[in-house]
This record gives sequence, C-alpha cells and structure tokens, in this order.
Amino acid sequence: MNLPQGPKLPAWLLRIQFATDPLGFLDQMSQRYGDIFTIMSDSTPLVFVGNPQGMKQIFTNTTEIIASGELNEQAAPLVGKNSLLLLDGLRHRSRRKLLIPPLHGNRIRAYGQQICDLTEKVMNQLQIGKSFLAYPTMQKITLEVILNILFGLHAGERYQKLRKLLANLMNYARSPFVEIPLSFPFLQQDLGRWSPWGYFRYLWRQFDQLLYAEISDRRQQPNPSAHDLLSELIFARNETGELLTNEEIRDLFPSLLFGGRDASATAIAWALYWVHRQSAVREQLLKEIKSLGDSPDLMSIVELPYLNAVCYEILRIYPTQVVTFPRRVELPTELMGYKLSPGTVIIGCIYLTHHHQDLYPQPQQFQPERFLEKQYSPYEFLPFGGGARRCPGEALALFEMKLVLATIVSHYQLALTNTHPEKPRPQGANYPPASGLKMVLCKINQHQKQR
Ligand code: HEM
Repeated sequence: MNLPQGPKLPAWLLRIQFATDPLGFLDQMSQRYGDIFTIMSDSTPLVFVGNPQGMKQIFTNTTEIIASGELNEQAAPLVGKNSLLLLDGLRHRSRRKLLIPPLHGNRIRAYGQQICDLTEKVMNQLQIGKSFLAYPTMQKITLEVILNILFGLHAGERYQKLRKLLANLMNYARSPFVEIPLSFPFLQQDLGRWSPWGYFRYLWRQFDQLLYAEISDRRQQPNPSAHDLLSELIFARNETGELLTNEEIRDLFPSLLFGGRDASATAIAWALYWVHRQSAVREQLLKEIKSLGDSPDLMSIVELPYLNAVCYEILRIYPTQVVTFPRRVELPTELMGYKLSPGTVIIGCIYLTHHHQDLYPQPQQFQPERFLEKQYSPYEFLPFGGGARRCPGEALALFEMKLVLATIVSHYQLALTNTHPEKPRPQGANYPPASGLKMVLCKINQHQKQR
C-alpha cells in the first residue's frame, strides 16, 4: 500500500480544525497536498479525493470499492437500522428501487402547484419591513412538501400532529443534546423523558405511534388511487418476496425526511442569498420568468435555462453536502496512482471538485453563466453524489428549488440585512448558511397565479 500524503497532526486536532472551519480546512489540505490526501483516523486511513478522475473511479468501480452501510452506523439512532444509509448490496438496491418512482417524473410534477401555493402561504405570513431568518422559513415549506409526498397527508388531526412533532424532532436532532451523543455513543443513555437522550427517544416513539396507526388504518382500508410513498410501501415486497414489516417501512422515512426538509431548505436558503447578493442575477432571473407571460405553465418555469444555471451554480459553490458518504476499499485497488489496501476508507470531496480551478475558473465567484457555456460531466458537477448512493431525492430537490425560487423572486421583494459574506456551517450532513440568513421582506408584488 502507498497512501497519498497528508497532515501528521493528531486526529483530534484535525477533527477540531474541520469542525470549526470545514471548507477552509479542505481548501488548506488541497493547497498543500493536491487533489488526493490522507487523514489517519486511529489506524484507519481516510483518503479524500477531489477531482473528476477519482470521483469516476469511486462511483463506477463497484467491485473493489463499495458503498458500505456499516460506515454510516453512527447515524443509526437518527435514521433507523434499516435506513437506506445503513444498508448495502442487494437489500440496499431493492429498497432504493421502491423509493425511486414516487420521487420522480409525473409523480412529483403533480405536486408543482402545491409547492408554489405553500411558498406563498409561508411567505405571506411574513411582515413587511420586519426581518426573518430565511433558512428556518424555507424549512417550513420543504417540510410540508415532503410530508405530502411521503405520506400523502396535508390536512387532518394526524397530519397536524405529525407536522408539529417532526419539526420539533428534527430541530432537536440538530441540537448538541443529540449531536454530541451521536459522536460519543456512551452518552446515549435513556434516563427517561426528561433526560436529553431520553427525550430524543421519546420523540421517536411518538413518531412511531403516529406512523404505525396510519399504516394500520391503510392496511385495513387501502386506497387504490393513493400514490404517496407510504401507501406503496405498505403493499411492497422486499428482496425475498415478502411484505415489508412495519419497522422496515418506518426506517425508510427518517433519511428521506432529513433530506427532504433540510438538504432542500439549505439549497433554497443559499439560492436566496446569492440571488439577493448579486442584484444583476435577480434581474436577469426575473426577466426570464416574466418572458413566459402572466400565468406561466409550471413546467415551462422548471425548464428555463437561466434559472437552471442559477440553481446549478448555487449547488456548485456551496454544495449542501460537501462530501459523499464514505466508501470502503474491499479488494486491493489503484486510485489515481496509489495502491490502496482493503479497509481503507475513501471520501469523495464534492466541494473540492466543484472548486477545481481547471474546471471552474475563479471558483469562489458566483457565475451562473458557466453552466450556460459548458456542459459538465457527472464527475465534474456532482452535488447529488453518484454511484450506488446517488441521492434518490435529486429530481424532487431540483424541481422544488426552481419553483420556490421562481415564486419568491417574482412575487416578493426581499433584501439581505447583512452585507458580510455568509459562510456555510455544518448541521448534520448539510451546510446551511451559518447565521440562518437574516433577510427582510420589502414588498409583495401584485401577481397572477402560476398554472
Ligand atoms: C438540494 C437538495 C439535495 C442535495 C444537494 C442532496 C445531496 C445528497 C448527497 C450528496 C448524497 C450522498 C450521495 C453519495 O454518497 O454519493 C445524498 C444522499 C441521499 N439523499 Fe439527498 N440531497 C438533496 C435532497 C434530498 C431529498 C429531497 C431527499 C428525499 C426526498 C434526499 C434523500 C437522500 C437519501 C435517502 C440519501 C441516501 C441514499 C443512499 O444511501 O442510497 N435528498 N443526497
């Protein structure tokens, strides 16, 4: 084995450096060591890769490099032991197959109008002249959208309970009361509802109760015209031809809920930041949307080229997830000239690839035009990762991001309250704006409804 070079500092010090300024740390590493470097975690080498050739190999060489679920075991208390993140091989492939149709094509298109209406509902609750935090405001929109798509619920007592509970649970999951025990499992002590970890377990039990009650109702009274994910999973069969158990169904939801609410809200909050930081971008976007007339069809909005380029540039400059989930070398392999032994962990660095000077000149500049001038390969532009774990929510995320952004830009005049550059800060797997992004609503435009 010959490992790429890397810092010789102790792992705990590197961990602190990464936690305090993750992007600065990655920039520093790549300046010093290039596109591939090693960080030792105890005796396990973690090899970080930040260029397209390396990415291609990680995603396509599936015999020697595997997307092991075991490497994500730390997330089990958060997402469930049968979550996609913790599965691999045949079980992982067959569960992913069940999720893909409800998150793609016509199935998500059916939610377009609702996404625009929800955006207006949430934005209309803001007061003119009063500041608000954009990230949690966008989380309100994305939570409602994902609840609808996953569970087919948008009204009624159970829906209201579920919405409130999940907002509470997912915010609590991002607090130090949960994040610290996730890193130090010996702190995961359930000492009753009033203890920090006990409260987390209590909230999950509440979720399970609501979900199992809904599953039981639907098993007794199936609705053949329902197309939400839960309705499909109840009658879906696993890789051995058996119906999924309630627990298997339940465990598929948390990772989708976190992706659906937080990754999407992160991307949309960054969209509001960049579009309002560079007024020329907002003007050009508005001009393009207006060119569709007074009541544009939703699909023609989603297909607008400049809107698409703006969304891609947002996901390039600050990818919501800066690294892929880890992969593991299963059989001896060669990666970018280095011979790696089984057990080596490989981390695809999305952020460094997106900031590669040769691919993206002036990488720190926000320039949507680069996506109009050049088509990038899936190994050069990869905000949704790739290979076996490629994000199953990609189509929904882009669809939602474009509709929410277009609705806000065309109907509301917002401004940033702060002129300082905003930095990303890690929250779970995502990197939303560190301050939550303070903005102010200046004016609501008169408008006709989108169709
Ligand atoms: C702009 C929004 C989003 C971005 C940028 C994003 C990005 C990513 C990335 C980078 C990965 C890791 C891929 C890899 O390791 O190769 C991932 C995985 C995943 N994402 Fe997303 N995501 C977004 C939205 C969503 C949404 C809306 C959902 C659910 C509806 C979702 C659910 C998931 C799940 C379940 C996985 C794990 C897949 C697996 O283990 O097979 N994400 N996402």
